[in-house]
Amino acid sequence: MALSVNLLKMKTSISLLGVLLLFFSACNLAKPTTVDLMTDNIATAVGQQNLQTELIEKSGKFINPRTLDKEGNIVYIPLTDWTSGFFPGSLWYTYQLTKDEKWIPLATKYTLSLDSVKNIKTSHDLGFMIGCSYLTGFRLIGNPQFKDVIIQTAKSLATRFRPNAGVIQSWDVDKDWMSTRGWKCPVIIDNMMNLELLFEATKMSGDSSFYKIAVSHANKTLENQFRNNNSCYHVIDYDPLTGNVRSKQTAQGFADESSWARGQAWALYGFTVCYRYTHDVKYLEQAEKVYTFIFSNKNLPKDLIPYWDFNAPDIPNAPRDASSAAVIASALYELNTYLPNKKYNLTADKIMQSLSSPDYKAEIGENGNFILKHSVGSIPHNAEIDVPLNYADYYFLEALSRKQILMSNDKLTMATSTKK
Ligand code: GLY
Repeated sequence: MALSVNLLKMKTSISLLGVLLLFFSACNLAKPTTVDLMTDNIATAVGQQNLQTELIEKSGKFINPRTLDKEGNIVYIPLTDWTSGFFPGSLWYTYQLTKDEKWIPLATKYTLSLDSVKNIKTSHDLGFMIGCSYLTGFRLIGNPQFKDVIIQTAKSLATRFRPNAGVIQSWDVDKDWMSTRGWKCPVIIDNMMNLELLFEATKMSGDSSFYKIAVSHANKTLENQFRNNNSCYHVIDYDPLTGNVRSKQTAQGFADESSWARGQAWALYGFTVCYRYTHDVKYLEQAEKVYTFIFSNKNLPKDLIPYWDFNAPDIPNAPRDASSAAVIASALYELNTYLPNKKYNLTADKIMQSLSSPDYKAEIGENGNFILKHSVGSIPHNAEIDVPLNYADYYFLEALSRKQILMSNDKLTMATSTKK
């Protein structure tokens, strides 16, 4: 009798256990797969950067990888290319993420190979080229040689300031395809990304003229580059003599009135940075308005990786742009430090989860040793469609570094501190 009661009890417990197991596995199935953002991604970054640097070191040249061509070959670019700062910058972030000092000489070498960029006066992209390489490195190792290059670059960039219009001219109008558009002083939203270098140059040199140029450019952009729905135009053409706006157009978006995804990303990031240096709340408000435009947009996919343009005609079949997503995630980690109650970091985490999934992140040894797949350079120029891009990787690693810092509650290091 006692034996059969015990058997009955055992059977009941076993079936209860079975039900519980079924319940928990059903819960697990329902949950989206999440990766450990730090460990997995750092491993991928190290794996890919090891392979990429080995390849470059073997070549014996300072070659700088940007993307893959249609045949799957790595495209290397000269130091005058607007993306030349991203590969050295990614090496700096790999050092920051791993704390492995083996990355310092490599990152330093590729950074110093850009030295002559400091004298370029025919490009506005100096913030990308020197900011992402020298400034990122300076924050980590405080090399005084880097500081001189940053200040000299700010001087070169300042030559593009058009005082009557109050803006830095983005593109020269007598070159390549830009000469066909009839512009006088085109300013693209991307130009907001150059202002960090100017703010830093004032901090480093004490020369306030760089700061004033940055503020003037940000104010004019605020005044002229946004629509009522808080999305931004790609290109505003100014009359450099009167300062009047001549036209509002696009170059890399689908249409003049469409919202090019990376443009929105540059705006969000750029105004967040302007708040960092000025504490002027209008910049913070603009960053939040751009956030609202992006994240309330009916065309933003559920995984939060935008189509290349929010108004692309072939949505949902339009190519995604992982580079925009990475820039947005990085900006949101910083925005979160100014507005912690808004929890922008949670949106950034979701983006990073998507980017870290096999849908967007490459296996080590694939994808030309780039980390992310599926970015878009410029569809109107039929260039770099659905490819890896060095700036997608750079902002992905920056976002990861920012998350790492946020996790250790060290807000200031991420947002404001620069070794003097
Ligand atoms: N600054 C060029 C681009 O975002 O494609």
